[in-house]
Amino acid sequence: MITESRQATAGDARIAYARHGRGDPLVFVHAFPFDQTMWQPQVEALRDDYTVITVDLPGFGGSAPLGDASMAGFAVAVGAALDAEGLREPAIFVGLSMGGYVLFEIWRQMPGRVRALVLADTRAQADTDEGRANRYRTAEQVRAEGAQVVADAMLAKMVTQEADSALRDKVRAMMRAAPPEGIVGALHAMAARPDSTPDLEEISVPVLVIVGAQDAITTPRDAEAMVEAIAGAQLEVIQHAAHLSNVERPGAFNAALRRFIEDLDPINRQGWPNRPELPSA
Ligand code: MLT
Repeated sequence: MITESRQATAGDARIAYARHGRGDPLVFVHAFPFDQTMWQPQVEALRDDYTVITVDLPGFGGSAPLGDASMAGFAVAVGAALDAEGLREPAIFVGLSMGGYVLFEIWRQMPGRVRALVLADTRAQADTDEGRANRYRTAEQVRAEGAQVVADAMLAKMVTQEADSALRDKVRAMMRAAPPEGIVGALHAMAARPDSTPDLEEISVPVLVIVGAQDAITTPRDAEAMVEAIAGAQLEVIQHAAHLSNVERPGAFNAALRRFIEDLDPINRQGWPNRPELPSA
């Protein structure tokens, strides 16, 4: 259960987030069209050993929508939550799918905040023209018919055919709970997101790429392409999982995460907090 709910402000927008546990910081950024509750299996598994921060991106969960949603605005919202917590040490960021798109933006905007990146079921490339047109069409449908348009269309790709009905119902309910305004904003933001492929070779922190073996949205091939382009990146393929690998196979996902985190060098607090990218205290 996400219990420790807090609020920050980014510009005029109210950002909801939660903080659990204590220890080195781990920041989780959710997929589309979900909210921070999708990280419940990770919060429960990691809160005894780490400070776990989960954020509702603008327009989802308890966070207000942005007037003009963008990946850059979403990254600012995550930064605002960390500022509100006074978090001055570099964090491990975990983003799944759209959350991964936000992580690329966090890396571009505030690299000094980043200790390591976990890019789960995501991809670096921008949308194709066809993909973009599809998003605009879906946004219009959501405006007319509501969140279930997206939930019904995406469910089959979120979890594998092996998933039982309880898991399917849970994932569908999470998607149906998304506010239509948030869905429309995120669809436009994803359509307009830049290609992050050129950034991959610039990433100089440890990276773990995770992908569900049956992910048909951001495929194992997309994951391999990121691993090939990022120096030293590691790959974990989660068997019997589709796109929402952290929810479908939390045991394997959490084990991969822990192995990666436990192998990281300790936080280098030398020179911290005077690094130029950081907001002032
Ligand atoms: C997500 O899971 O965040 C979305 O499927 C990403 C996308 O549509 O590109």
